[in-house]
Amino acid sequence: MRTFFVTGGAGFIGAAFVHLILREFSDVRVINFDALTYAGNLDNLSGLDSDRHTFVRGDIRDPMAVKESMPMDVDAVVNFAAESHVDRSIESAHDFVTTNVVGTQVLLDAARGTRARKFCHISTDEVMGSLSDGSEEVFTEDSPFAPNSPYAASKAAAEHLVRAAHHTFGLHTLITRCGNNYGPRQFPEKLIPLAITNALQDREVPVYGDGRNVRDWIYVHDHCRAVLQVIERAPAGETYNIGARNEQRNIEVVESILKALNKPSSLIKFVTDRPGHDRRYSIDPGKIEKLGWLPRAGWSEGLEKTIDWYIKNPQWLARVRTGEYLDYYERQYGERASQK
Ligand code: NAD
Ligand code: TYD
Repeated sequence: MRTFFVTGGAGFIGAAFVHLILREFSDVRVINFDALTYAGNLDNLSGLDSDRHTFVRGDIRDPMAVKESMPMDVDAVVNFAAESHVDRSIESAHDFVTTNVVGTQVLLDAARGTRARKFCHISTDEVMGSLSDGSEEVFTEDSPFAPNSPYAASKAAAEHLVRAAHHTFGLHTLITRCGNNYGPRQFPEKLIPLAITNALQDREVPVYGDGRNVRDWIYVHDHCRAVLQVIERAPAGETYNIGARNEQRNIEVVESILKALNKPSSLIKFVTDRPGHDRRYSIDPGKIEKLGWLPRAGWSEGLEKTIDWYIKNPQWLARVRTGEYLDYYERQYGERASQK
């Protein structure tokens, strides 16, 4: 039996990854280590129903908690845990630095101490900054770092620490840098779930600035399959950009959602721009494609599946909106308990 120590596995992408690996591999067990911040939600793990999944509530900034929970010789540490929302990082960068930077170093130290076989760090294309509008420029693995938001800066710092752990200590590290994800169970602070859930309730959808900023969107399951491919096949010390060759302007994204829901475009509300708002991201996925990975979900299909999930899961949304899910763990299990 192989053991994966997954951090942030109660969040949007981490939970999708945990579902994927337990479904795809009968020889894998998962220790899912997550602090359950506002973005971590045990509802995201429902349906797992597997004795190969152990949930541990813990903070990656806490070396003792990490050490207690990480067994010797795990096959892979996969670090999804992070503060992930740019707007929150503009409000306050504190947790971004402590979790994304310090927390990553705590995990690297623990991985070395327990002789973890591989350490896969989930980074973002945002470490490479912004590309100019309408240009042919793309991010490659060799693009220079130019993080523009506190979030992106904290993720760039973490990447440096991962690189150093490989170079100095020979840890088998891997880094993935993905574009914007969308799919089921994304917290409705990010553009796509916010637009869907607001529109479903006939609320306005805020669009920052002129709405012409470009993001390179990928369906979350395709991102998770790419991470798995990297863990299984990539040489130590490598970095992979992950993208589905799917650039869209924000306004086009919102218009597509409103159209799919049969809602009027009068719900679009242009609002003050985000400070330092990156104009365009575009990923060259050539390197990960050479590893044998290709995305499966097309944009329309992925968006349709995502919208459908939010329509069919009103309880999930209601609990997220009221924050009811936040004290669920305490009520069910107590502070230090763990859940199978
Ligand atoms: P998310 O905000 O939905 O989930 C983050 C998870 O990490 C939550 O479950 C939260 O409880 C947990 N967490 C936060 N701080 C923690 C701490 N100190 N200790 C333990 N757990 C903690 O984020 P997401 O969108 O699923 O993103 C996952 C990872 O992927 C992040 O590292 C993010 O930077 C990266 N990423 C995200 C995107 C995207 O579009 N969402 C794109 C590229 C990369
Ligand atoms: P977001 O989902 O926050 O991801 P990121 O900032 O990491 O790319 O935002 C995606 C794009 O949508 C980004 O250009 C900011 C914009 N945006 C809006 O226009 N309105 C919103 O309400 C939000 C949350 C984002």
